Amino acid sequence: MSKYALNCIGVLTSGGDAPGMNAAIRAVTRAAIYNNIRVKAIFRGYQGLISREIQEFNTQDVSNIIHHGGTILKTARCEEFRTAEGRQKAYDTMVSEGIDALVVIGGDGTFTGARIFAQEFNVPIVGIPGTIDNDLYGTDSTIGYDTALNTIVECVDKIRDTATSHERLFFVEVMGRGAGFLALNSAIAAGAEAAIIPERETSVAQLDELILNGFRKSKNSSIVIVAEGGGGAQAMAGRIHAQYPEYDIRVSILGHLQRGGSPSAFDRILASRMGVAAIEALLDEQRSIMIGIVNDEIVNVPFTKAIKYDKQMSDSVINVSQILSI
Ligand code: F6P
Repeated sequence: MSKYALNCIGVLTSGGDAPGMNAAIRAVTRAAIYNNIRVKAIFRGYQGLISREIQEFNTQDVSNIIHHGGTILKTARCEEFRTAEGRQKAYDTMVSEGIDALVVIGGDGTFTGARIFAQEFNVPIVGIPGTIDNDLYGTDSTIGYDTALNTIVECVDKIRDTATSHERLFFVEVMGRGAGFLALNSAIAAGAEAAIIPERETSVAQLDELILNGFRKSKNSSIVIVAEGGGGAQAMAGRIHAQYPEYDIRVSILGHLQRGGSPSAFDRILASRMGVAAIEALLDEQRSIMIGIVNDEIVNVPFTKAIKYDKQMSDSVINVSQILSI
């Protein structure tokens, strides 16, 4: 028997959208209804909880969304939820709507807000990691990362056609905020000559080596993937151009096209598993935890850990990238 009533949950998406969020909303909704729990969809993230943009969902409300990118619930980064007054309003909404617990789908900022809110008002909250950056401690993968990675690889494959035909050096900037997971793994998958990532300062020195030993000698094409948090492609290209004005250099910043599109099968399955696990965790009286996946097993990670610790980049993966780029 549950220590608290679990008759109705609220679900929201917050922070940057990520492909697979809809699959997670669908799984949360259906798993809750399967367990006789009502579902209230909260629109525009925490803002919708404050301003009461809420609609009850039944199973049909989440039909035909599993293959769509973005989030049907809309999303936002909410300044008001950072204030005590904002959180009080959000709690008042939960009480008046009869919402007993929340499932929040998002990233670091989403869980930081959730942790504070849960502590202040003793609200059960479970998080689902949805971000293309894959930068959350405690989970091997976040929803949206695999799709974004595949999108980047598809783009770089296309850029390579021009790079090869014109014998150019391309700097391709990818997203990831302060993390280099998208950059490193897309570099491996697309066979790029180098990856500049924030986690390894040495990757910049390796770029000089690439220019001197590879591009300069044979004057062939090269693709360097630059994480947005690793210095930026424009700056890298500017520096190399100043040193080697004879090279034909181009910059391509992939931008938000990395965040859109139909989710991959991997992300749909991950989102479905995590959505069901979130409801099971609430039924199991878990609170203030993020659902993660480690070695293909679902795990519960306390918000405190998911937020506090940095996810480590695997040395062996960095090694693979370096060995293969000679
Ligand atoms: O966190 C996801 C992400 O796409 C980051 O990779 C990027 O730095 C940021 O969001 C961009 O945010 P916005 O869409 O607000 O420009």
